[in-house]
Amino acid sequence: MSTSKNIVLVTGAAGFLGSLVAQAIQDDPQTPNVHLILADIVEPTAPSNTSGNVITLKVDLTEQSDIEKLFETKLGIPDTVYCMHGIMSRGSEDNFDLGLKVNIDSVRGLLQAARKYGQSAENSIKFIFTSSLAVYGGPLPDVVVPSTIATPEGAYGMAKLCCEFFINEYTRRGFVNGRILRLPTIAVRGGAPAAASSSFISGIIREPMKGLPTVCPIGNSLDSPELDLALWISSPRTVVRNLVIAKHIPDNKFVTHTRVVCAPGFTTTVREELEALRAVSGNVMLQSGKEVDVLELIEFKDDPTNRRIVASWPARFDNSYAFDLGLVVDEGGMIGVVEEFKRELERGRT
Ligand SMILES: NC(=O)c1ccc[n+]([C@@H]2O[C@H](COP(=O)([O-])OP(=O)(O)OC[C@H]3O[C@@H](n4cnc5c(N)ncnc54)[C@H](O)[C@@H]3O)[C@@H](O)[C@H]2O)c1
Repeated sequence: MSTSKNIVLVTGAAGFLGSLVAQAIQDDPQTPNVHLILADIVEPTAPSNTSGNVITLKVDLTEQSDIEKLFETKLGIPDTVYCMHGIMSRGSEDNFDLGLKVNIDSVRGLLQAARKYGQSAENSIKFIFTSSLAVYGGPLPDVVVPSTIATPEGAYGMAKLCCEFFINEYTRRGFVNGRILRLPTIAVRGGAPAAASSSFISGIIREPMKGLPTVCPIGNSLDSPELDLALWISSPRTVVRNLVIAKHIPDNKFVTHTRVVCAPGFTTTVREELEALRAVSGNVMLQSGKEVDVLELIEFKDDPTNRRIVASWPARFDNSYAFDLGLVVDEGGMIGVVEEFKRELERGRT
């Protein structure tokens, strides 16, 4: 079987980030003529303007036989794996056993396959993993630094941390070449609301900007002190850019004891989000033709479980190590992020 370069496997490729990463790798000048293997339990869509070959596979990654298929396509053994499939935070909190199966067992299965097939490749396979700030919980310093110990307070963060341990160990043994990005909460996320505790962080911008009603599970009114809940955010564009950069970081730039890096983000609050929404959007037109203040489309219904999960996540990080590795941050703060979403909306890409 061929072990030629620039064969990239993306799991979770029908998902929000996976589909954006597939497109970004396709467009990456540093990965010319890339061949893509796109896998998801839902049939993935090929990116536009493909230069190489694309194979889309509908597979259940909790089945080892399905995982093996990804390494046995006619395109050859992937040299890079973006491991991005998963059950999101609220989903894995509510269905613990499914969360374990998808968020830990299938990632272990994928690692084992990358180890096995990588042995016949020239170099170990790059294994890029989307971890999350949800690995943190409990008492935290004001600013999270690379040496801050992760003690998750939820099934999702626990699973991400377990996978990080496996990927670090597989990397130490030379089985794979791991790169682990602990992502900030991504906002504003396009598409339909996700089964994530953080879903509202995008929902309170996305739905009202489309003229649709939404529920904010934090606080019971615009005056609630709960709206000062701090959040650690990155725009989708910046997260995807960082995931592409992660592929190209030279091995010797990483510290020796871990491949974990907290991807850059910035601090905002639910209140600042709402202020940015009003500043960028103002009034919106409903389907009925009626014009309303955009904030009128938000119903406040405090959900203490949701609030507890999100409040357990840190909201301030030291970005310096990530910058040393060449990763980037949004420059325009919350207003910039909402403006970016508005542009995407106007282009019909959300
Ligand atoms: N969106 C965020 O704010 C955020 C933040 C931190 C980390 N992450 C991580 O980034 C990755 C992508 O997140 P997303 O927002 O695109 O999520 P998403 O829910 O849009 O995509 C996940 C994909 O995984 C697929 N999947 C689930 N079970 C599967 C199975 N058994 N076999 C094959 N595919 C399966 C789903 O069908 C879905 O398309 C995830 O690993 C997530 O944990 C996301």
